[in-house]
Amino acid sequence: MENKNLPNLKKAPTQDVVNYIIQEFHTPLKAQIPILGDLFTKEMQSHVNPRLVRAFHCFNEFASIMELHLLQEETILFPVLLSLERESNSENLKSLTPFIKAMEKDHTADMHFTEEIKELTYDFQPPSFASNNLILLLDALKELVRALDLHIKIENDLIFKRFLKQGDA
Ligand SMILES: [Fe+2]
Ligand SMILES: [Fe+2]
Repeated sequence: MENKNLPNLKKAPTQDVVNYIIQEFHTPLKAQIPILGDLFTKEMQSHVNPRLVRAFHCFNEFASIMELHLLQEETILFPVLLSLERESNSENLKSLTPFIKAMEKDHTADMHFTEEIKELTYDFQPPSFASNNLILLLDALKELVRALDLHIKIENDLIFKRFLKQGDA
């Protein structure tokens, strides 16, 4: 989960971290979700595999949490955090703590779904008889999970922690 940008982001202003998250993770994730949905659907139309059906179910649960989560971060949490940072008002920051905690809770739920998908797909390893579609699907899922791990790590450690600490002050 190494990323060459991480050391720079640690010291970067919150605005830069937020821009990085939206550009590197939110926008690609929003584009990937429907593509993955189509790959799953196509695969299940060609043959029924109970593990894949369960993985699709997990993916759908994940996608529905994520849709609202990304919207809440982009339209509420990030803009509010940035304006509070400008005002450096720790009382107002404190009132935002439950919202941040709710986002962290979504992250934990996401990790559970992706862990389950990882297990159901045998760590994204295609079987010897895999169709091109299944190979594409497993590759795309692997990349989604890799990016999501980093996305969540950056938000939890580089943004949320900053504000939770200030809110405690
Ligand atoms: Fe995010
Ligand atoms: Fe998030």
